Amino acid sequence: MRRAPLDHRGTTALVTGASSGLGAEFARQFAARRANLVLVARRRGRLEALARDLENTHRITVNVFTHDLGSSDGVRDLLGDLETHGIAVDSLVNNAGFGITAPFVDTEPNRLGEMLSLNIVALTELTRSLLPQLLTAGRGVLVNVASAAAYQPTPGMAAYGATKAYVLSLTEAIAEEVRESGLRVLALSPGPTRTEFFAVAGGDFSQPINFETPEKVVSVAFSALDHRQPRSVISGFSNRAMVAAAGVMPRRLALFAARKALE
Ligand SMILES: NC(=O)c1ccc[n+]([C@@H]2O[C@H](COP(=O)([O-])OP(=O)(O)OC[C@H]3O[C@@H](n4cnc5c(N)ncnc54)[C@H](OP(=O)(O)O)[C@@H]3O)[C@@H](O)[C@H]2O)c1
Repeated sequence: MRRAPLDHRGTTALVTGASSGLGAEFARQFAARRANLVLVARRRGRLEALARDLENTHRITVNVFTHDLGSSDGVRDLLGDLETHGIAVDSLVNNAGFGITAPFVDTEPNRLGEMLSLNIVALTELTRSLLPQLLTAGRGVLVNVASAAAYQPTPGMAAYGATKAYVLSLTEAIAEEVRESGLRVLALSPGPTRTEFFAVAGGDFSQPINFETPEKVVSVAFSALDHRQPRSVISGFSNRAMVAAAGVMPRRLALFAARKALE
């Protein structure tokens, strides 16, 4: 269903994981639409450099807050900052996340806990805390960054894929719950994208990978939010084709294909 593009001018968008990759690109594309920004990640220098650049180029207001959202106090402290600075949020992009590449049995337990805390707990808590004001504003978007890995089990990145299956399920359910509101809700599922993700995830990705650019992936999200009413979108034709194929294959064949793709 086609609908009118959203006008983000003068609204405020909070983007987590804005110091790099997809999060920094979400910040750039919101800024180009003249939205004010709240940028969150751990690396302050990078956030401040991006904030200065976007403020100068687009004449918007950008607030920077550094928090480890994977820590037990991260989300609570961020919410405290918003309150202290009197910032109301119209749009939320839960983008911060990382993966771990290893057989599950070899996954370092503390790192596994950090990933679950960031990819699942922080995203859920931030969404639950800010959803009432997003609904009241009724003129923004909620984007949760899932992954093409959400659509089938991912041997070699087992827990990561499972966290993204959670994000996809949660987001599609919320989208349905708030369908009648003005808030547009989207689970964005990128395939391999040229960011720092693979350096952080570890593993040997020496075989050729068909990477997309962050610009392209984020444009897909804005286009879906502007013109259609999907609850989720997969970026890139080959990623959509792989997900579609996995959906019609017997489960064990999809598992085998996913294992081969990640080897
Ligand atoms: N790239 C891909 O191929 C791909 C594919 C599918 C899905 N995704 C998803 O896309 C999202 C963005 O990843 P990316 O590809 O842009 O990777 P990236 O370049 O590594 O960016 C990850 C961002 O998350 C932030 N972050 C990591 N840990 C954090 C923490 N504990 N607290 C706060 N912020 C934290 C990082 O900032 P700091 O280090 O400064 O904190 C960084 O800004 C992730 O959810 C990822 O799972 C990526």
